[in-house]
Amino acid sequence: MPVQKRNKTVEPAENKKRGTSVKKSSPQQDSQRLWLKVVLPIITAAFFGLFVLWSSSTSEDFVTEVLAHQSETVQERFFEVPCSEDYDNHKIFAGCTPTKCGRALTDALITNEEAKTIQRLAERGLALGGSNGGASILDLHSGALSMGTHFVNMYRYFGDAIKDIFSEKDFQLYRDIRQRIQLAIAKSFGISSSNLYLTKPTFFSRMNSTAAKTTHDEYWHPHIDKVTYGSFDYTSLLYLSDYARDFGGGRFVFMDEGANKTVEPR
Ligand SMILES: *[C@@H]1O[C@H](CO)[C@@H](O)[C@H](O)[C@H]1NC(C)=O
Ligand SMILES: *[C@@H]1O[C@H](CO)[C@@H](O)[C@H](O)[C@H]1NC(C)=O
Repeated sequence: MPVQKRNKTVEPAENKKRGTSVKKSSPQQDSQRLWLKVVLPIITAAFFGLFVLWSSSTSEDFVTEVLAHQSETVQERFFEVPCSEDYDNHKIFAGCTPTKCGRALTDALITNEEAKTIQRLAERGLALGGSNGGASILDLHSGALSMGTHFVNMYRYFGDAIKDIFSEKDFQLYRDIRQRIQLAIAKSFGISSSNLYLTKPTFFSRMNSTAAKTTHDEYWHPHIDKVTYGSFDYTSLLYLSDYARDFGGGRFVFMDEGANKTVEPR
């Protein structure tokens, strides 16, 4: 979630999520998002989407509220918001589509050790390609990997050589963490995890302040996953790096009408 090149500093921009679509008049109708703070500019977007957005704006004029500081270790935190009308435009899946909406935060999903391990896995994959701009993605499910100004299917592109990059143990850890995210979403939103299915896209994302070369690099625009993807009922983000320690800028922002609510990833 980077960019906006006006700054000379190398801070990634912030990841903004809009709580409501433009046509709505009522405030704070964000959809559901499970937001999992954890550790690098690598973000796993599991379940139902990931999206990120950062702006390089550093103005202090904005009304900002911090939902979780980097210095805190959050066991579980839930901020309920009215459910968005955006859900009315899509199929309702009983037992899955949220009836209670909000933003859930936790630092208790994975250990630092696991974060480092999964981060190294992502780095090995991204090292095979990478965007010429500031935002690269790696999707282990579809094989999508940023490469220059486009994407390749790494499984097809590299063939058997991929087996030397990721081991079965890597995939096992990935599946295990994915499963934990699923259970955490189910618990936070009061649904059964068996009614929750992984949808796409689901990917690792690495962002820095290199200027965008294509629109795919422009991760910083405010966005609404339910509108962009339709299939997402919940979005989760798992940070693999720490705000203020591993990177500057790059906070996660829920854009509400009266204030921007930020999360400082750790
Ligand atoms: C939230 O941040 C955006 C820019 O990132 C700004 O345009 C908007 O005015 C801010 N909202 C509030 C309520 O301060
Ligand atoms: C961003 O990451 C890419 C890929 O690792 C690297 O080539 C580039 O130099 C980085 N840019 C900055 C400003 O750190």
